[in-house]
Amino acid sequence: MCGVFGYVGQSTDVGDAVVTALKTLEYRGYDSWGIAVSTPDRLIIDKSVGRINGHHRAYPEGCIGFGHTRWATHGGATRANAHPHRDCSGSIAVVHNGIIENHTALRAALIARGHQFTSETDSEIVAHLVEEQLATGESFASAVADSFDRLHGYNAIVVMDRVGQQLAATKCVSPLVIGQGALASTIASDSIALRGHADQLVFLEDHHLAVLTKNGTDFYERSTMKPLSPCAIPNNNRQESIELGDYPDFLSKEVSEQPGTLRRLIDEAHQEITELAVKLRAAKRVVLVGSGTAGNAAIAGTYVFSQLCRRDVSFFPASEFRYRSAILDSESLVIALSQSGETVDVLDAMTDARARGSQLAAIVNSPNSTLNRFVETSVMLRAGVEQCVLATKSYTAMLAVLLLTAYEVREEWDRGAAAVGRATEAVEHVLDRERQAHMFQIARDFADAGNLFVIGRGVHYASALEAALKIKEVSYIHAEGFAAGELKHGVIALIEPGTPCLVFAPQDGTRTDVLTGASELRSRGAKIIGVGSVDDEAFNEFIYIQDAGVATPIVEAVPGQLLGYAAALARGNDPDRPRNLAKSVTVK
Ligand code: G6P
Repeated sequence: MCGVFGYVGQSTDVGDAVVTALKTLEYRGYDSWGIAVSTPDRLIIDKSVGRINGHHRAYPEGCIGFGHTRWATHGGATRANAHPHRDCSGSIAVVHNGIIENHTALRAALIARGHQFTSETDSEIVAHLVEEQLATGESFASAVADSFDRLHGYNAIVVMDRVGQQLAATKCVSPLVIGQGALASTIASDSIALRGHADQLVFLEDHHLAVLTKNGTDFYERSTMKPLSPCAIPNNNRQESIELGDYPDFLSKEVSEQPGTLRRLIDEAHQEITELAVKLRAAKRVVLVGSGTAGNAAIAGTYVFSQLCRRDVSFFPASEFRYRSAILDSESLVIALSQSGETVDVLDAMTDARARGSQLAAIVNSPNSTLNRFVETSVMLRAGVEQCVLATKSYTAMLAVLLLTAYEVREEWDRGAAAVGRATEAVEHVLDRERQAHMFQIARDFADAGNLFVIGRGVHYASALEAALKIKEVSYIHAEGFAAGELKHGVIALIEPGTPCLVFAPQDGTRTDVLTGASELRSRGAKIIGVGSVDDEAFNEFIYIQDAGVATPIVEAVPGQLLGYAAALARGNDPDRPRNLAKSVTVK
């Protein structure tokens, strides 16, 4: 989860370079941050609890520095637990992403040998391990390699050697990318942070170790320390806009970008979708895998393939994949859905699927992601950088890709493109200023509610799950989505006078039954907020969206996004950085 950035090069304003890069990595964790700037005789460390966004401070001149934005796993969000962490001598510093699974034993052994810890983190262990290895006379690079080999779990570390003015980095699963530029060698947990520093990128492999000095980066095989020359690729991140522009926050910006993303998919993704459709047709069994919002898109996909292609496509939540994967074989196709392409549960699932000989494909937003490099076939979501922790434009893009793929399996691309085109216009319509104001009013009315329920049937069940997820993660109202027919089997006991219930009631075969559910809720005092293209007497409030036929779930996503946003603002919550969450979940 945590954001990591390191710099070795010509700039003497390294502190500014590190702070600027960390601001772009804040989405990975934002409960605390820290930076280190090294001069040959001093190591300056600055740490703080909270967000780095908005932080300005001049640091002493230096040519080497690194920093970290944290999402706490071991030890609370305190200044002492913020990275970087130092060894006992103070000349080795470390930033870390991941979980050191054997940290208890390592820490106890280090303390028994006289090391003094200043934090509760698992990460600090690395600084003391390197310190011990160096004391044996090992080189810095070998000391880092040997220390890393003692860690269990998925980890990425960057270690600073103040005396040698160098950084060493290595990893297992957790991503690290090296930037090579005219003025600096840089390293980060996401290539987005290397904008402006790197022309070429090298994605560090699990068994490699990189050493960054002012002369460039050297790569080694970690077990043998044999030099390597890994392939570099051009840094194509340079053009992507990550600025807010006139928007107050990234959530509202990214919600408004959805029509553009949908149009880009229709215009540009046909070839990639054709390749995915070919694989889908050939496969005996198809499994979709994803987490969070991507999982909700996958659930919608299971309905879409059933309805449009008469295909039994399953969804396995990524974190549950391994407990069900025994049924997979070489005739299976596993399609991972992921915005970041870095969610560790998704990567684990795909590793498992590969071990079972299955075909692998991805529907993914980040072109430089581990997932995209792992699979044979991928469809890019073309949504641009999604900065807000809430997934919005990547969700509607996933729905569009699934729908277009289903039509392509039927060899009816034009019909699919027309359906997504219709949904695009309907999304534009629902984003109209007046309609937004209406939804804001509805959200303000329920902003103090303790519970909120969302129901839908068929593919709109996925819309219900996603709307509830959007509302709960940003407003912190307890919101749950249900298949409308399941409501009577327990949840209805929770309905009290005034409980807000969002009801997806589109013009399709689900309408009559979902309206029956709405009436049952209303009879028990619930306040019904209907979403659809035709009002009904069961509704207390009505959010009008244009009907887009089979592509209506794309349109249905928007009210959930805007209701969550407005409720968050009404409750004084940060819409881009909700508490306890992170955008890229790279730990289990
Ligand atoms: C985190 C994010 C969610 C996201 C999920 C899966 O929980 O907060 O917004 O849906 O990860 O992320 P992915 O990048 O794999 O789509």
